[in-house]
Amino acid sequence: MKRKIAALLTVLLYSVFFLAGCSKPETKEEDDLIVIGMSQVGAESDWRQADTASMKEVFTEANGYRLLFEDARQEQENQFVAIRRFIQQKVDYIVVMPITEDGWDAVLKEAKDAGIPVIVVDRMVKVKDESLVAAHVGSDFYAEGRKATNWMKEKYANAEQVNIIHIQGTKGSTAQIGRTTALDDAVKANLNWKVIARMDGDFTEAKTYEVMKEYLSNRDSLPKIDVVYCENDNEAYGAIKALEGFGYTCGKDGVSVISFDATYNALVYCQKGKLALTVECNPLLGPLVESVIRTMQSGKTPEKNRYVEETAFCPEDITEELLASRKY
Ligand code: AHR
Repeated sequence: MKRKIAALLTVLLYSVFFLAGCSKPETKEEDDLIVIGMSQVGAESDWRQADTASMKEVFTEANGYRLLFEDARQEQENQFVAIRRFIQQKVDYIVVMPITEDGWDAVLKEAKDAGIPVIVVDRMVKVKDESLVAAHVGSDFYAEGRKATNWMKEKYANAEQVNIIHIQGTKGSTAQIGRTTALDDAVKANLNWKVIARMDGDFTEAKTYEVMKEYLSNRDSLPKIDVVYCENDNEAYGAIKALEGFGYTCGKDGVSVISFDATYNALVYCQKGKLALTVECNPLLGPLVESVIRTMQSGKTPEKNRYVEETAFCPEDITEELLASRKY
């Protein structure tokens, strides 16, 4: 009897609340939620983790979404499996951060045939039929590379020869292709620049540390090193650790280490002078992806390609205010 009275009271209280129009339930009805199937590359770098956090912050139930998030752990095959699962689950949108550019035609066609729009984020895909991609939001990686090579041109304007070690990111990814092409173009244009070694750092600190350590172990027979061009921050941390371990100085009168991303830790490295330049790559893409989805929800066609604004930092640009305001 007591239980019945309690239940009756609860129903009455809720009715009064709603009739008075005071409050809506906090969580939206399951049917109202927009379902997003998201396939992320992995967690290889600080940038990647900030990018994932940005997505998770935006695509919440409170904002009207149900996010099905899959971490591909650096394997493109895992991305294909995830996308096929999203198709079976009949999600409303598929968001993919592709590991590499090639190989997407078949799986994206399956998504298109199922009527699910695909939004490509961060890197790009190379597909024969461009209609397989509804929209792309990310960085202009070639432009980022140009910021680095322009800085090098100024810094080494009077140098006889500039010896460069190039640490590449994940082969075949747009970030690697853009940043590598910018360096290659600049090397062709500046006849006194020489790439003395090119190694694969796979965007990670651990791999870069290993390959650099191996390379530097022949220190006595190596030419002078002027620049280490690392294709992300984490590679730069590994390179600096290896260089310093072999007695090199990184900074003004030593080796100029360049990185991409400009995450908080890189800005601190830069402030200390260990990074000569860090080129920004903005991972906070969640709000932009959401605006693409909102556009499509309202029946409009989103911009096909949207690049984020980015800058670059030298040690003299790093202020305490900048560090305090850095969100990633
Ligand atoms: O595609 C963006 C790149 O991927 C970032 O520069 C890097 O840190 C990440 O892993």
